[in-house]
Amino acid sequence: MKLAKRTALISPSPTLAVTAKAKQMKAQGIDVIGFGAGEPDFDTPIYIKDAAKKSIDEGFTKYTATSGIEELKKAICQKFKKDNAIDYELPQIIVSCGAKHSLFNAIMCLCEKGDEVILPSPYWVTYLEQIKLSGATPVIIETSEKYNFKLLHKTLKHHITPKTKCLILNSPSNPTGMVYSRDELKAIADLAVKNEFYVISDEVYEKLIYEGEHTSIASLGPEIKNLTIVINGVSKSYSMTGWRIGYAAGPKDVIAAMGNLQDHSTSNPTSIAQKAALTAISENDPALAKMVREFRARRDYMIEKLISIPGVSCLKPQGAFYAFPNISKLIGKKIKNQKITGSLSFTEVLLNEAKVAAVPGIAFGADKYIRLSYATSLDNIKEGLKRIENILKE
Ligand SMILES: Cc1ncc(COP(=O)(O)O)c(C=O)c1O
Repeated sequence: MKLAKRTALISPSPTLAVTAKAKQMKAQGIDVIGFGAGEPDFDTPIYIKDAAKKSIDEGFTKYTATSGIEELKKAICQKFKKDNAIDYELPQIIVSCGAKHSLFNAIMCLCEKGDEVILPSPYWVTYLEQIKLSGATPVIIETSEKYNFKLLHKTLKHHITPKTKCLILNSPSNPTGMVYSRDELKAIADLAVKNEFYVISDEVYEKLIYEGEHTSIASLGPEIKNLTIVINGVSKSYSMTGWRIGYAAGPKDVIAAMGNLQDHSTSNPTSIAQKAALTAISENDPALAKMVREFRARRDYMIEKLISIPGVSCLKPQGAFYAFPNISKLIGKKIKNQKITGSLSFTEVLLNEAKVAAVPGIAFGADKYIRLSYATSLDNIKEGLKRIENILKE
């Protein structure tokens, strides 16, 4: 019996090998410092947990409307108005089982065989896999460190064809931590409006910004708003990765189609988690400011240390919780008698010889880089970087 051809479109994650090995080593009692985490290392704030407990006690444990409870959708509309100066109506909002699910629904509803989807690289690995699953052709545009890994107007212009259906934007970015300015987004928005393609704007790291400010491309005028599907969620901003609540906002017809897809796949996101997300989004959370302060201090330490290590350079990320150091000077060299041929072999050496787990940049389409998450304690960061420094010195 054969599996559906669709399954062959999904690539196994190149990060899995390193992550699985790090876990195995930890289980064997080996002291591994993990820089792989894609989630805040803080607990979900207590008042959010309390809201979930209350909803269980009150019996709020049944199906809800597929696209989410009205109170939550209203709170999301208010959030967009307050944080992003965008007006949405309820039928323009859908709540899903995580931002990844909102993204999946959006891509499945917009893209199909014959369409081209523009994806700037370095990219979060899930985008590429979801585009491939939809049957559309990914058009990967390599961005350069020289321009802070941002998609430039002139570069984008050259890649637009009559088949361009959609562009995927992610600001603040995983893995680079870069944040697009209003002007940069305006230039991209003008091209989208002129050439009539959609923009899927993933803004899940919106609240984790250390310099500058977040702008949603959808806020730049009615025309671009009508072409944008904003993806956001509570996972990163409120340390709620396990609760699985994300949401999307966009044109009514797109959101309705996403609702139909959700109707026949997952139905509603968990009722209890929706109540918790309602509390997270509606209340002014002091835990968030504290988390941002802590991330900023760790980022500052990590970047200062990284750029002092010979052979390594690193831009200062403005948001999210990742550093994306350039290791190109190490490629071709030998470390502990092992030849470094790219990011995968470098992260293998780091894990085996320095007992430090990092994600190879090749997973994000950028083989001259590695990704280090600073969603771990400052003590871990100090120890991990010392180990990297020592192995490179040798
Ligand atoms: C850029 C980006 N978008 C979306 C997600 C998924 O978020 P969620 O946990 O809400 O599905 C992640 C998680 O790592 C991410 O890095």
